Amino acid sequence: MAAELGRGAGAVVELVEFREFDMPLYDADVQESSGMPAGAVALRDRLAKVDGLLLAAPEYNYSMSGTLKNAIDWVSRFRPGPFRGKSAFLMSASNGAFGGNRGLWALRVPLEGLGVHVYPDMFSLPHGATGFTESGGLAEAATHERLATMIEGYLKVARALAHL
Ligand SMILES: Cc1cc2nc3c(=O)[nH]c(=O)nc-3n(C[C@H](O)[C@H](O)[C@H](O)COP(=O)(O)O)c2cc1C
Repeated sequence: MAAELGRGAGAVVELVEFREFDMPLYDADVQESSGMPAGAVALRDRLAKVDGLLLAAPEYNYSMSGTLKNAIDWVSRFRPGPFRGKSAFLMSASNGAFGGNRGLWALRVPLEGLGVHVYPDMFSLPHGATGFTESGGLAEAATHERLATMIEGYLKVARALAHL
């Protein structure tokens, strides 16, 4: 849905599944002896091609998932830093009352630390089991509008940052 809204607002959006970037647990000794894993190289290369990220990430135990943090840790070892200067809009959904929003607050910290311009507004969908339609849309029209407005706002900022 976010991809569709982004395209509707004039952006070129490519969908990427996180599982495309499989990588082992970060270990500096492994990095030293074997170099960067293929999944980290692939994620770095993918980041190089984009100006911004519509990033949907789950909340695990009141924070970001360990697998996502692990990927950020690997990718942060490349020079130049692949995240620096990118922009990001963060989204989450969960069955809980907070929609995974605490995970997004945790995710802001490493992203901002690595130089990503994280858009101030974030979209979190609570009660996710009933929040989506069968075709992947948002069940409530007002929620759909809220996401559309946020994505339009993010894209304005992303375009301006991309031209700096
Ligand atoms: C290990 C684990 C911990 C979770 N912790 C939380 C949590 O703290 N808060 C929450 O709202 N949902 C929590 N969830 C639910 C996930 O955020 C939610 O199901 C999400 O859609 C899972 O996305 P994924 O399929 O990409 O892993 C947890 C799920 C798992 C597997």
